Amino acid sequence: MSIDLKNVDYVYDSGEPFEYFALRGISLHIDDGAFVGIVGRTGSGKSTLVEHLNGLLFSTRGEVIVDDEIVSKERTVLAKVRRRVGIVFQYPEDQFFAETVFEEVAFGCRNYGFSKEQVDESVHKAMSTVGLDLERFLSLSPFQLSGGEQRRVAIASVIAMGQKYIVLDEPTAGLDSGTKLAVLTELEALRQTANVTVILVSHNMDEVAEFCKEVVVLDGGTVAFQGSTDAFFSDVDLVDRTGLELPESYRLARALKECGSSLTVNECSTSRMLDSLRLCVSDLGGA
Ligand SMILES: Nc1ncnc2c1ncn2[C@@H]1O[C@H](COP(=O)(O)OP(=O)(O)O)[C@@H](O)[C@H]1O
Ligand SMILES: [Mg+2]
Repeated sequence: MSIDLKNVDYVYDSGEPFEYFALRGISLHIDDGAFVGIVGRTGSGKSTLVEHLNGLLFSTRGEVIVDDEIVSKERTVLAKVRRRVGIVFQYPEDQFFAETVFEEVAFGCRNYGFSKEQVDESVHKAMSTVGLDLERFLSLSPFQLSGGEQRRVAIASVIAMGQKYIVLDEPTAGLDSGTKLAVLTELEALRQTANVTVILVSHNMDEVAEFCKEVVVLDGGTVAFQGSTDAFFSDVDLVDRTGLELPESYRLARALKECGSSLTVNECSTSRMLDSLRLCVSDLGGA
C-alpha cells in the first residue's frame, strides 16, 4: 500500500485573472511505513501538496491515490481517505477549542464513532506516545499548556484516530530544540511500533537528515528530487539550486575533508556523525 501522485497540477483561482500554478506535473510515490521529508523553499508548494493527501484540496489535473483509492470529492471516497490520512498543521494550537486536553484529543475519535472504551483507550495511548503524563494533563485546559505541550496535544489528537499516514506540516516550528528532537523521536517510535507512515514537511535540514531516509524536494511547484536523503545532501549544487542549506553534519564533514583531515566520518546526521567521531577519537586514543 502506498500514496501515489500522478502528474498532479494544482492551480489556485483557476480561470481567474490571478490564477496561480502552485503545483506542476507532480509525480511521486510514498511507501507504507516510510519516514519521508518534504522540503523546499517557502512558496515551493509543500503545504499545497500535503493538503491534497486527505482531500483538503483536489488536484486541478492528475491523480492522487491513497491505497488504491483515487481521491475525489465523492463522499464515501473522501471519508475513506480521511480515515487513512491525518494532518497536523503548522500551528495546530490555533485551532484548539475544547475545554480540556482529554476532550481535545478525544474529538476526532468521537467523530469516527469510537465507543466510550475505544475513546478512552485511544486517548490514553496517544498521550503516552507523545510523552504527556495523563494524570497531570487530561483535565487541564489546552490553553494552560506550554507551546511544546500544546504541539504534543495537537499531534496526539491526530494519532489517537489511528490513521496510517500522519502528515505534519512544519510541526516543530517555534519549538525549542530539545522538544523538537523529543517529538520527532516519538513519531519515529510510532512508525516502528505501529507501522505508521510519517510525512514531514520541514525547513530544518538537521531534523530532516536525522529522521527522514527519503526526501521529496519541491522547487517552484515541481519535484526537483525524490530519493535518499543522503543522495540529496551529497549533491551540493542541487541543494543550493533548490534554495536549501546543508545540514550541520554535512557541512562539518565537508570542512574536515577540505582541511585534509583523514578522519572518515559518517555525515548522514548529527547523531551518527557524533557516533563516528567518538569511534575515531577512541581509535586515536588506543593507537
Ligand atoms: N489560497 C491561496 N491562493 C492563492 N495562492 C496561494 C494560496 N495558498 C498558497 N498560494 C501560493 O501557492 C504557492 C505555494 O504555497 P504553499 O503551498 O503554501 O508553499 P510552501 O508550503 O512550500 O511555503 C505560493 O506561491 C503561495 O503564495
Ligand atoms: Mg507551507
